[in-house]
Amino acid sequence: MPGLTIGDTVPNLELDSTQGRIRIHDFVGDGYAIIFSHPADFTPVCTTEMAAMAGYAGEFEKRGVKLLGISCDDVASHKEWIKDIEAFKPGAKLTYPIMADPDRKAIKELNMVDPDEKDARGVSLPSRTLHIVGPDKTVKLSFLYPACTGRNMDEVLRAVDSLLTAARHKGKVATPANWKPGDRAVIGPSVSDEEASKLFPDGFETADLPSKKGYLRFTKV
Ligand code: BEZ
Repeated sequence: MPGLTIGDTVPNLELDSTQGRIRIHDFVGDGYAIIFSHPADFTPVCTTEMAAMAGYAGEFEKRGVKLLGISCDDVASHKEWIKDIEAFKPGAKLTYPIMADPDRKAIKELNMVDPDEKDARGVSLPSRTLHIVGPDKTVKLSFLYPACTGRNMDEVLRAVDSLLTAARHKGKVATPANWKPGDRAVIGPSVSDEEASKLFPDGFETADLPSKKGYLRFTKV
């Protein structure tokens, strides 16, 4: 059976964290949130990821996006580990909470289990999963990485900017390959040329392709 995916409501779990008890839906509130797992505390890639995320926290905050980490170590372990993370990236403050899931129930419900990565007792560890959750508490986008591959926080931020751009334009635009803020977006296939002219006063440009179907239209956003 497939696990939690795009469009699904994130389970409203209540867990201990480094900043007290957290109920996921209350935490997400009326904005966007990024819930991201890592395999284990005091491991090399995870330490670099958590430090990198701490460095990007201000950028996410500017966009009204909250950060929420999770792993299957306990809160006491997370708190000790935070000292290492902050020492590794001098000046960084880990301002976001890390939830604890010692019995590994939450990571299953959040589809964050890596069946190939096991602890010393042979129990599966979390993968490097990241869900971007919208104000309606549904998953808008997910990353699913194995333990060997640290995530790129520029890409997480770019994905957030893409989602926020599409949402601001009520799903009438999408962002093309390698898009970054400031680039033109594309107009979605459900929007007619007539509607596009009304929606985008600066106009749009249609790529001249062999099919002449006129489906690849760029506009400023
Ligand atoms: C790491 O964070 O470096 C890591 C964690 C679990 C397995 C392999 C690598």
